[in-house]
Amino acid sequence: MKIETKLIHAGIEPDPSTGAIMTPIFQTSTYVQSAPGDHKGFEYARTQNPTRNALQNALAAIENGKFGLSFSSGMAATDAVIKLLNPGDEVIAANDMYGGTYRLFTKIFEKYGLKFHFVDMQDPNNIKRFINGNTKLIWTETPTNPMMNITDIAAVAAIGKPHSILLCVDNTFASPYLQNPLDLGADIVLHSATKYLGGHSDVVHGCLIMNDTALNEKLQFIQNSCGAVPGPQDCFLVLRGLKTLHLRMQRHCENGEKIANWLRKNNKVDRVYWNGFEDHPGYAVAKKQMRGFGGMMSFTLKDDSMDAANKVLCSTKLFSLAESLGGVESLIGHPASMTHASIPREERLKNGLVDSLIRLSVGIEDADDLIEDLDKAICNDEPKQTFLKDTQKYAVPA
Ligand SMILES: Cc1ncc(COP(=O)(O)O)c(C=O)c1O
Repeated sequence: MKIETKLIHAGIEPDPSTGAIMTPIFQTSTYVQSAPGDHKGFEYARTQNPTRNALQNALAAIENGKFGLSFSSGMAATDAVIKLLNPGDEVIAANDMYGGTYRLFTKIFEKYGLKFHFVDMQDPNNIKRFINGNTKLIWTETPTNPMMNITDIAAVAAIGKPHSILLCVDNTFASPYLQNPLDLGADIVLHSATKYLGGHSDVVHGCLIMNDTALNEKLQFIQNSCGAVPGPQDCFLVLRGLKTLHLRMQRHCENGEKIANWLRKNNKVDRVYWNGFEDHPGYAVAKKQMRGFGGMMSFTLKDDSMDAANKVLCSTKLFSLAESLGGVESLIGHPASMTHASIPREERLKNGLVDSLIRLSVGIEDADDLIEDLDKAICNDEPKQTFLKDTQKYAVPA
């Protein structure tokens, strides 16, 4: 089956008791047994839930994997992968990725004796010099959040495989519609399903997809033992979101292309980071491993000041100033003070994440309306009162 068909049908069976075409929300914590151990495959809802099962099967199918596991958030899914490791183990991670992942690695797991090396993975060869006998995991995100850097998944997988190093790819930005890391040699695919998979900014959810039976069993054990499982209502929302992923992604890609090209021609805009530009350093790899370039992009202003960035951030009407991405509505964000505030300033500056960098999650509205909104915000020279007080915290305007 093609992904468009899988998104609608994979993992879904009409409910046997009623014929309901939509998977019911099994809002239960436990299941009645007719005698001890005599049950219908469901004992306790942290361990199994039929709504979650349907979603896990659908997620596995759309990433071309054998097994899917759902978690209460993307971070909970990340947490489960790192719990595969033992003290003394080492991880090679991309130096440009979601700030919360960096925070989890450095602030939570380093103190348990794990060692993380943060490496520029735009050149996969950079990974080689960090490999030693303790290296157990390579962690990458592509395209990266927010610099839109590209990692060659197949090349990284080829470097790790001879050393039996697991490769986990955070595929949140691309979604399975645009990229399937398992097909390129990854061992685990991670999604913050809060984003494109859910697609409607109404659920927080994470998932892992893999092919290896033993790896699935280990992660399932962690899922059940640690208990960061999603509720059935949230699983239902992600299942519903999946059904339109292909249509939404097509429009995200079309709108993304129009807006990136418009930004590039705007004389107030300095740099535009979008993977579809032929002169983007990762363009050739992106073209090889992705089926489109999506609706995520970042840009800086020629007036590279906080005030200029803040004026834009506070002036758009259709682009809402908010964290997150991947929903039907367009969002504008300021990585330095929002999604990436947990990364020390000097670290993020090294990767080009300057104070004035603005990130867009281009939604599926009319592209011309979105451009008009950005035009008014970027090109209006009138001073705006609402400015950031500092890079760590500020009030989101109503
Ligand atoms: C690329 C990426 N990975 C993981 C996460 C974490 O996901 P969640 O917010 O669902 O915990 C995020 C959140 O923004 C993200 O952007």
